[in-house]
Amino acid sequence: ADTLRALAKRAGLKIGTAVDMSALADDATYKERVAAEFNSVTAENVMKWSEIERERGVLDFGPADELVRFARQNGQGVRGHTLLWHNQNPEWLTQGVADGSIDATELRKILKQHIFDVAGHFRGKVYAWDVANEVIDDNGNLRDTFWLQKLGPGYIADAFRWAHQADPKAKLYINDYNVEGLNAKTDAYYALVKQLKKDRVPIHGFGMQGHLGVQYGFDGRALQNVQRFEALGLETSFTEVDVRMIMPTDNAKLQAQANGYSVLLRACLLAKRCTSYTVWGFTDKYSWVPGWFDGEGAANLLDENYGQKPAYQAVSQTL
Ligand code: XIL
Repeated sequence: ADTLRALAKRAGLKIGTAVDMSALADDATYKERVAAEFNSVTAENVMKWSEIERERGVLDFGPADELVRFARQNGQGVRGHTLLWHNQNPEWLTQGVADGSIDATELRKILKQHIFDVAGHFRGKVYAWDVANEVIDDNGNLRDTFWLQKLGPGYIADAFRWAHQADPKAKLYINDYNVEGLNAKTDAYYALVKQLKKDRVPIHGFGMQGHLGVQYGFDGRALQNVQRFEALGLETSFTEVDVRMIMPTDNAKLQAQANGYSVLLRACLLAKRCTSYTVWGFTDKYSWVPGWFDGEGAANLLDENYGQKPAYQAVSQTL
């Protein structure tokens, strides 16, 4: 059978996966599958601030560069993830903000420096950046983070402007979860993006993570949502798709999961400017889900032994 990669190429779509760098180093099957099935990769962790600048002023791009090298060897594009987030920041930063040793003026400088450091380092090597990750909460308010508290709402526009200066060719995305349908959160993103465009902020893409759960059902209005963002002049992408379930698995759950993957993929294929569909890992052997959602798992396309689940078949057939 054709690989997802071959099918996606015919559909004019980038198909990606998050990559776990330890699995890539230690597991030959994993490595072989990443290369064979995908034409785009995202660093699951190694491009995050906590990984790149563990110690203040000491930048370690080693593992991220290794992923870029792997991608180049295999003819794959790289999605950058992420420049600005409230999670996985270095301790010196969060501590400094908390104890007041880093004030607002310095924090703004630190953020600017970080974006120039990282987006500058990968200039020309990533086709897109998740510039701002998870900046709105589920109620549709700007998320109450130290960024918002110290810098005010303008920090989002600033981040995009700096990223654009550092890497003028990369597509710059705003990215979040629970934005795959129509709800208060997506409405708030729609309003925010509209304002950013009006203010001529260089924002090019709306990223929908796509962390779904069988137990929640799926919003059938994904295409409608994608289309309204495209009408604002943005491209769109599904950036972190996985569909978890309450364990243990059974046939009904696995079928429902397959449907969840397809709902998002169909929306992407039917839209005009949905350029990539990335899964957040592709085998249940390595998944963030069991560690983050108690009693849940089996969220990926392949099982723990790299066997194809109904979800894999569904993605393959939908492509
Ligand atoms: C997750 C990784 O998969 C885990 O390995 C890590 O411990 C925590 O972060 N939204 C995002 C991703 O934007 O960066 C997160 O990745 C999952 C949720």
